[in-house]
Amino acid sequence: MANKGLFITFEGVDGCGKTTQLKLLSEYLKNHGYEIVITREPGAKGLGEKIREILLHYDGEVSSRAESFLFLADRAQHIDKIVNPAVESGKIVLCDRHTDSTIAYQGYGRGVDIEQLSVLNLLATDGKKPDLTFVFDIDVETSMSRVGAEMDRMESSGIEFFNKVRNGYLDIAKNEPERVKVINANRTVTDISKEVVSIISEII
Ligand code: TYD
Repeated sequence: MANKGLFITFEGVDGCGKTTQLKLLSEYLKNHGYEIVITREPGAKGLGEKIREILLHYDGEVSSRAESFLFLADRAQHIDKIVNPAVESGKIVLCDRHTDSTIAYQGYGRGVDIEQLSVLNLLATDGKKPDLTFVFDIDVETSMSRVGAEMDRMESSGIEFFNKVRNGYLDIAKNEPERVKVINANRTVTDISKEVVSIISEII
């Protein structure tokens, strides 16, 4: 039977630089002979693309609980159809956002009950947690300046919202220090990448 792979998630406020770091880590791991799958939430291939379109571009009112369920529906599909099969076949899955986004954005940001969201996250993932999570922590003024003027539905939520999201991530990391590693993202791409690689090197 194939070795079991790894499931690694990348988290942080919009504009924190996590997607750049995900790509750099993917290159590093490929160069070291690992089989990598890059994926994201919301919006992995298939049904996820449809859900993403609603979440980011629907221009009518969306209640916070309805928004939560849409992210969760995307997650359940993503875990069942993409993440689990890849991990079980021995691949390393690098995923741009996952369960912690729902706790940080819908829980801390929008004010949806965090305990209930945690239970729903377990339902969506069938109880599976990432092996490792990076939270790229950055001050919100810097991250928002990177997002720029053309904002999607989530990005238009305002500075106060994103400060709550940022604090949410820091709380999550405090509660689960083994799984969740906070990376200071107010640094150069190279410095951040070196730290990511050094953390990964300890587990592979
Ligand atoms: P995306 O364009 O993928 O942003 P980024 O490149 O910053 O990841 O949009 C995803 C948006 O959805 C982002 O604003 C975070 C938000 N989101 C939630 O609010 N809850 C969730 O559970 C997930 C997965 C994402």
